[in-house]
Amino acid sequence: MNGSGATRWCALPAAIGPEELAAWCPAVASPVAVTGATGFVGTHVVAALIEAGVRPRLLVRDASRLTEGHGAGADVVRGVLDDPGALGELVAGCGTVIHLAGLVRAESAARFDRVNRAGTENLVAALAARAPAARLVHVSSLAAVGPCQEPEGSAPEDEPHPISAYGRSKLAGEAAARVHAGPWVILRPPAVYGPRDIDVLHFFRMAARGLVPIPGGERWVSVAYVADVVRGVLAAAAGGADGRVFHLGEPKPMAMTDLVRALAASGGLRARVVEVPGAVIRVLGLGGDLLQKFGMRRIALTSDKARELLARHWSARTAASLAALGLPGFVPLAAGAATTWAWYRRHGWI
Ligand SMILES: NC(=O)c1ccc[n+]([C@@H]2O[C@H](COP(=O)([O-])OP(=O)(O)OC[C@H]3O[C@@H](n4cnc5c(N)ncnc54)[C@H](OP(=O)(O)O)[C@@H]3O)[C@@H](O)[C@H]2O)c1
Repeated sequence: MNGSGATRWCALPAAIGPEELAAWCPAVASPVAVTGATGFVGTHVVAALIEAGVRPRLLVRDASRLTEGHGAGADVVRGVLDDPGALGELVAGCGTVIHLAGLVRAESAARFDRVNRAGTENLVAALAARAPAARLVHVSSLAAVGPCQEPEGSAPEDEPHPISAYGRSKLAGEAAARVHAGPWVILRPPAVYGPRDIDVLHFFRMAARGLVPIPGGERWVSVAYVADVVRGVLAAAAGGADGRVFHLGEPKPMAMTDLVRALAASGGLRARVVEVPGAVIRVLGLGGDLLQKFGMRRIALTSDKARELLARHWSARTAASLAALGLPGFVPLAAGAATTWAWYRRHGWI
């Protein structure tokens, strides 16, 4: 731990204690390369590494998007996932690569594929040339396995059947990661929430207004607090769980209505939950597609996302994964959401 590292956390709540960092980080082989360091999850992973005294090597396409202090606490390689030169520089001699870069929203299946599949293939090719024995921690998504019919959720060994372009590209990314000759671990988080997130933020904002529309019908979902995803990444990076796929998130999925009510309650609010017919969500998705065609970025609801929203249960069985990774527990929704409310309010996001 270093004192200046703690200051760099200024924008992020210190969610992972020094004892936990001390348990994992010494076992993580250096140098540690990270892709996606400027994203929601990546920012938290990088903060934890710096906090633990690790100086990560980051692939960054726009340095202005780095969280304050991360540029000084890390070595920055400028580039993108389809730049073999930058990828070679990133992974040269690395002991560990944490691959978080990816597209979670895109205007076409081809864009998803280019970044989430081909980008991972490029990274694995760079590893083969410059660091074949490095451990690759590949962050995939529950979208890669797809939704399930049982509320209890899907297990990592279930046959994948992704239903969206995003999910298919993430599954193809997993296949690319498995080709790596050195040790690899694949992590599949469900929807991740926490400080700095801009997607689940929509639900926080609607709850703040007192009315949350959700798709009609019984739906169970799993979520993961961002600090628990960081714990999963660090535990996987520390070794002992190679060659396997793990599901992350709270071991007990929740009915979506209960989840929304609990989320509002953790912010000291009561929200009315309104069930929206699937047809309305589909039309809104088509509207999102149109806006995207006109060049608008960061559209929350497209046809692809509507298909995901309208699927039955987005829940995951995680207990066995958490045990195999040696993760002591998880942050319950009430606590994670309360921290998230506080952060959004402090930073004027709500
Ligand atoms: N957030 C969730 O709920 C969730 C759930 C399950 C799985 N995941 C997975 O977790 C990972 C991180 O997600 P996130 O929520 O942190 O996403 P995010 O906030 O959108 O961040 C994505 C990161 O990837 C970088 N990136 C995108 N395209 C790139 C390219 N072509 N070359 C190099 N870097 C590129 C972005 O750089 P810029 O900053 O320059 O854009 C950013 O750093 C993704 O792989 C995602 O699929 C996320």
